[in-house]
Amino acid sequence: ADLDYYAAIKEAELKLCRFPLESVRGVPLMRPIAENFDSIWEFNPHPLDLLIATYPKAGTTWTQEIVDLLLHNGNAELCKRAPTPVRSPFLEIVSPKPIPSGLDLLNKMDPPRMIKTHLPIQLVPPGFWENKCKVIYVARNAKDNLVSYFHFDRMNQTQPEPGPWDGYISKFMRGELAWGSWYDHVRGYWLQREQKNILYLFYEDMKEDPRREVERIMRYLDLSLSDDIISRIVALTSFKNMKENPMSNYSCIPTHVFNQSISEFMRKGEVGDWRTHFTPDQSNTFEEDYKNQMKDVDIPFRDSV
Ligand code: A3P
Repeated sequence: ADLDYYAAIKEAELKLCRFPLESVRGVPLMRPIAENFDSIWEFNPHPLDLLIATYPKAGTTWTQEIVDLLLHNGNAELCKRAPTPVRSPFLEIVSPKPIPSGLDLLNKMDPPRMIKTHLPIQLVPPGFWENKCKVIYVARNAKDNLVSYFHFDRMNQTQPEPGPWDGYISKFMRGELAWGSWYDHVRGYWLQREQKNILYLFYEDMKEDPRREVERIMRYLDLSLSDDIISRIVALTSFKNMKENPMSNYSCIPTHVFNQSISEFMRKGEVGDWRTHFTPDQSNTFEEDYKNQMKDVDIPFRDSV
């Protein structure tokens, strides 16, 4: 299946471009997603399906790899059966034919499926809540998330051009990037985490103590693996190992989609890299605006100031 998938991306080369954004209920999404949003909204998951939700660049791929290994008892070979987007389809992604959409891939898989989404909570298909699916949300501090997204938009040839760094910061603050406002995104899942039984994780916690967070995910999934297997999973999902693993580093995606010679998908994997990007002035402006946008909610982000 993955060979077909990559052959299809190659075949569609001339139909791919930096898609403009279109609003879906106030959220800017890439045009092919916006045009197909009705069918995404109607997606009806199985109760055993698991949703991994993030704002783009918050640690999605890392979490997908941890979850896949947990579900396969730490079996590294099994988790190299296919690249990340085939093992764990991207719910809302729609690309020109013949590239299969996220829904096409999901419809060919048997539950329990590990589904990725970047949709803000209000756009998550209601079937996920009706079927009481488990949902893992990963949040990353705003400035690092923004830096990572900037470099991703430089190399991802299907999202709008990032433009200059300073203007990119403004677009982020105004919620004009693909998938909308980071502030609304992290807040939306935070406020509903208890009512909807969402496991809300932080990238910074995963960096600080990956074993603790892997165990937290394991408990949420009602799994109980041995200490040895947990240690193995922690090692296999280190930044270095995932960067070297062709099934998790997105090297299978052709350069007309992800041009990793501009910026690697596995770029730095650090907390606090924003310090090498923001000038003191940019940082002050950002923080003033941050306080205002986040004044109604207290989400314990770290390493953002
Ligand atoms: P950087 O650009 O800061 O390096 P997503 O998977 O949501 O697109 O997030 C990508 C970000 O997560 C990138 O951040 C990437 O390097 C980082 N990342 C991926 N795997 C990681 C890992 N095992 N450990 C730490 N960071 C990881």
